[in-house]
Amino acid sequence: MKSISELLFFQKPIVYLDSVPSTNDFIKQFVSEKSINFPIIIFSEFQTNGRGQRGKGWISNAGQNLLFSLYVPCSGCHIGDLPVISQEFYMAIADALNASLSEDLIRIKWPNDFIILDKKVGGVLIETAIQHDQIDGIYLGLGLNVHQIDFPEDLKDASSLERLFPSRKFCRVELMKNLMRNFENIIERLEFHTLKLNVERYNKFLYKFKEEVVLRMNGAKLVCKNLGVTESGAWLLEKIDTQERFEVHSSSEVEFIYNPDSMNDRN
Ligand code: BTN
Repeated sequence: MKSISELLFFQKPIVYLDSVPSTNDFIKQFVSEKSINFPIIIFSEFQTNGRGQRGKGWISNAGQNLLFSLYVPCSGCHIGDLPVISQEFYMAIADALNASLSEDLIRIKWPNDFIILDKKVGGVLIETAIQHDQIDGIYLGLGLNVHQIDFPEDLKDASSLERLFPSRKFCRVELMKNLMRNFENIIERLEFHTLKLNVERYNKFLYKFKEEVVLRMNGAKLVCKNLGVTESGAWLLEKIDTQERFEVHSSSEVEFIYNPDSMNDRN
């Protein structure tokens, strides 16, 4: 069994670090300084300034979880391709997790939180280098909680594979191998421009698909039916009280409330 530092991605060693402020920030600088034009992965055992969605932080104990960023050069991709490309990566992550669990337990909370049994075990931060309408490259940062048992008090919806399934054995190296194999597959298809939006498949992973969800939008609490993701990659919702349908296009527009009785919830 190899260690994480020995893993190969497209036959090249990944960059393995003990500690870094944020793997997403590091990879962007690394790619730019070294003019990298091939896919790479930068893994770190710890982050001192891990970044999450909506300007939040990402906190993770040293050496227990997976913290890494993937760079994918994307020349020739239009900005309109981003929903399909991102969805493919989210589903690849979900597939790798299900493979490690040997069960279909992973759900994706739109757009890119990874949920098992109503607990968040991972999240993705995708950043892009865009010029005009063209994507130059994608930086995908994944934080996945594997062995961490204790979480800060205010992260009451966070959990890890080991915390949820204490009697099972999880292996970070195996998880990384599964993830990287799935990423290589997508990147090869991306190069040949053969990716297609597969809304039906994404919606099978969607957390609380066709169920009631409670959201916060512009400070107000909304109770909606989750109608799933549309062909354009937007999230379609229907207000329970008025049956008015509306689309959400960016995770910054809504906040998911796991526990509707508490409006101080984290997502
Ligand atoms: C979220 O808010 O759910 C997204 C979390 C993304 C965290 C990962 S950890 C590796 C990479 N580096 C960062 O600074 N953030 C991402």
